[in-house]
Amino acid sequence: MKKKNIILIGFMGTGKTVTGRELAKLTGMELIDMDLLIEARRKKTIPEIFAQNGEPAFRAMERELVIELSQRTGIIISAGGGIVLNPDNLADFAKSGLVVCLTASPETIFQRLEKDTTRPLLSGDKKTQIAALLEKRKPLYNVIAHQIDGDRLGPEERATEILRLYALES
Ligand code: S3P
Repeated sequence: MKKKNIILIGFMGTGKTVTGRELAKLTGMELIDMDLLIEARRKKTIPEIFAQNGEPAFRAMERELVIELSQRTGIIISAGGGIVLNPDNLADFAKSGLVVCLTASPETIFQRLEKDTTRPLLSGDKKTQIAALLEKRKPLYNVIAHQIDGDRLGPEERATEILRLYALES
């Protein structure tokens, strides 16, 4: 039987990367960070891609990568926060494994990203932009059945909870 993937979804700063690392440590499964893979393949940073190619081009790169990664098995995928903008991405991911959504309050997200300079969508007043974007995307994240509260749980607890769900679904 094919081993399912674990797919981490969530707004920027909800802890997908740290949770993914924890999961990889616990399971030995390969962790693929979509943003890092896009940057490595294009030899450009995410801000450079947004500035030079534009957001629609970045979304197309993400789409292509979702299709590719959804063919694979037994991997952990940390997706970019905007992956939910295209419902086809979630549909493909859902067929390939367990999809979980990490959540955090706007305050936590702001604290984590206050000094960050790598997110082109948060290049102005961060507090306002986080609140507005989170509000706009909330319905898109909320359709995901498994929600992991990253305010209440630390990375290890999040990983343990995800593995419990993974065992139930496998
Ligand atoms: C984005 C989230 C980022 C990155 C890009 C756009 C978004 O990923 O893909 O800056 O639209 O929410 P992280 O969620 O890993 O920060």
